Amino acid sequence: MKVMVTGGAGFVGSHTVVELIAAGHYVQVVENFCNSERWIVERIERITGVPLALDELDIRDRDALRASMERFRPDAVIHFAALKSVSESTQLPASYYDVNVGGTATLLDVMQEFDCNRIVFSSSATVYGQPEACPVAESAAVGPATPYGRTKLVGEWLIRDCVAAPGASLGAAILRYFNPVGAHPSGLIGELPRGVPNNLAPYITQTAAGQRDYIRVFGDDYATPDGTGVRDYVHVVDLAKAHVAALDALASSDQRELTLNLGTGRGYSVLELIETFSSVVGRPIPYERQGRRAGDIGECWADPSRANAVLGWRAEKTLLEICEDAWRWQQASALPHD
Ligand code: UD1
Repeated sequence: MKVMVTGGAGFVGSHTVVELIAAGHYVQVVENFCNSERWIVERIERITGVPLALDELDIRDRDALRASMERFRPDAVIHFAALKSVSESTQLPASYYDVNVGGTATLLDVMQEFDCNRIVFSSSATVYGQPEACPVAESAAVGPATPYGRTKLVGEWLIRDCVAAPGASLGAAILRYFNPVGAHPSGLIGELPRGVPNNLAPYITQTAAGQRDYIRVFGDDYATPDGTGVRDYVHVVDLAKAHVAALDALASSDQRELTLNLGTGRGYSVLELIETFSSVVGRPIPYERQGRRAGDIGECWADPSRANAVLGWRAEKTLLEICEDAWRWQQASALPHD
């Protein structure tokens, strides 16, 4: 299949490009490098041994996107291109809606023009906001607590409305990721947070590497076994494989809209993550308990049974593999670049 990947040099995007090529698909990456690095493209080529078709453009640039689609004529699009910082989204909400919602709308319009009728959309468990209970199934109430989360939810609605439009032939898989972590086992691609990381896993590896003094553990009074926050950490290579499976499912099933949780189905606490990383690094990684981070929830982990059944997919990599791969990447490549 010919697959256009928007945001293909980003964290989940780059790993998905690798898995798509491994599965025999032809890939064209569309990127504006607003939060990713050009050398990631070369790294993808090193891993796959295949030159990568790349169009440098902003998905809001309709003419550029049209020209790209006209050249490549994709059978499907996997759409990652988006802004993803929760804190930045509270400061720049209009920009977040512009890129995440406006960009998706332009993409859907152009896809229709070129009869490209399959989309896989990068959504997030953040659409659930504060879940009423764990594990969280797709039927749980949505109610994102941040502008970033709301742009993801509006993106989902937009896509479902396009699927349901009279005469439309669009099929869509909406994938709600829990906490993406880890890196490619080669150590050649991984997460590249700009500035001080907001997310726990890159903060841990940067602390282990001596770039940060200590990890701040946000909150130790949650109703969890050790009092720290519990999340469903899913290896990025497992996530990437789910995108390939979602393309196959859209091509082979009559169902035109799939909304699926992508998680492992088990939660780990902040302290469990720090301990596992410490065992991989071979020394204790310093941390300090602090108060809760505003907006954080105690626990959030997935019921991934629908994705297991519909995609024939399950997250296979263990927490140990997650930590080993993230640490290999940190040591090999993840130089600070702010
Ligand atoms: C965050 C975002 C979520 C986004 C996801 C992407 C918020 C409120 N939520 O989720 O919208 O989809 O990232 O991966 O930002 N923690 C620490 N110290 C740190 C950082 C985090 O103790 O320096 C704790 C948090 O309190 C939480 C856990 O680690 O319990 C995971 O945090 P994080 O990696 O930021 O992910 P989420 O908050 O789950």
